[in-house]
Amino acid sequence: MAARAPTGPDPTGPRGSRDGHRSDPVILSGCDYLGLSLDPVLREAWLQASASGPLQTGASRATTGDHPRYRRAEAAIAAFLGEPAAAFLATGYLASLAVAQALAGEATHVVLDDAAHACVRDGATLTGLPVLPFPSGDAETLRRVLGRLPRSARPLVATDGVHGLRGGMAPIDAYLEALPRSGWLWVDDAHGIGTVGAGGRGTVEALGLGPDPRLVRSLTGSKALGVAGGAVVGQAAVVERVRSHAGAYRASSAPPLAVAAAFTGAIGRMRRLPGRVRRLQSLAARFSDALPARPEVLGDRRTPVTAIHPADAAQARRLDEALRAAGFVPPWIRYPGGPSDGFFRIALRATLTADEVDRLARAIRIAL
Ligand SMILES: Cc1ncc(COP(=O)(O)O)c(C=O)c1O
Repeated sequence: MAARAPTGPDPTGPRGSRDGHRSDPVILSGCDYLGLSLDPVLREAWLQASASGPLQTGASRATTGDHPRYRRAEAAIAAFLGEPAAAFLATGYLASLAVAQALAGEATHVVLDDAAHACVRDGATLTGLPVLPFPSGDAETLRRVLGRLPRSARPLVATDGVHGLRGGMAPIDAYLEALPRSGWLWVDDAHGIGTVGAGGRGTVEALGLGPDPRLVRSLTGSKALGVAGGAVVGQAAVVERVRSHAGAYRASSAPPLAVAAAFTGAIGRMRRLPGRVRRLQSLAARFSDALPARPEVLGDRRTPVTAIHPADAAQARRLDEALRAAGFVPPWIRYPGGPSDGFFRIALRATLTADEVDRLARAIRIAL
């Protein structure tokens, strides 16, 4: 089956209701899990920040390009996650590279969850350190790999928190247990922030972990936060090393000031809309429970992403047709780390109705 970009109407357009169904096809792609990309408060923050003053500062923050709006974004995300410090960057991809560049001179090995996102894998390579992969989610093998390192080793274990391509969470509680005191656990929680944990604080909150000085997180504003930008969040010493050693921070300009303002606004919206996070979580559980237990279906009732890897082209076509007939734009994608021929990646949003989620699950059940 050829890859097919979503061809439905603009997701920002009006969505009327006809016979109890919305008249426009429902979009299931992307990562706007909380629907914040349409939030009027964030739009206002964005517009206000652009209405006067410069659109951007015209230089790296390490030279003359700093601005209070960037520092406010950092304070907001650090406080939200209960961590001492944060560095704000242009994108989540750059935030991940910044973690790797910051710790390259301190760590001795990168121990890499083999399903980590491309930016984590690219960051691992960029360190120039030996990279030791372990099977995703397998804390026992991780423990064995760590146990074989010299006593003087300072390993950097690197993983996604929530897996953005297939749903599910890395067992970072078990990863932390396996990690020596001298090491770091780097969690790219791009898909965890805003989706898991009672307050949407990500995988660390979802797994009930307390503060841990070995933990460093990279994240993006482009998914549940509905805007853009990226951040590294953790201990002050690690964040200082981002500022002093990471080319992704030092040699790249921060994003336009409107991005920083909207990012800060999004953290405020997350605090004020805990019901939206809970709603997403309850839709995710409802959807997951209604899906058939089949090898083609990958997901986890705790997370809003489900992948369907069709067994063959005929099954892919059946699913495509069934989704269209049920009023959904089939979210067929190709992406690094997924099957090369493509797959369906379904990202639920808190703005869907329970009826829509039930209809979606029914269409999939019938087509499979
Ligand atoms: C796990 C993960 N990390 C990082 C990123 C990059 O974030 P950004 O789009 O802000 O560069 C993505 C984006 O797809 C992602 O899925």
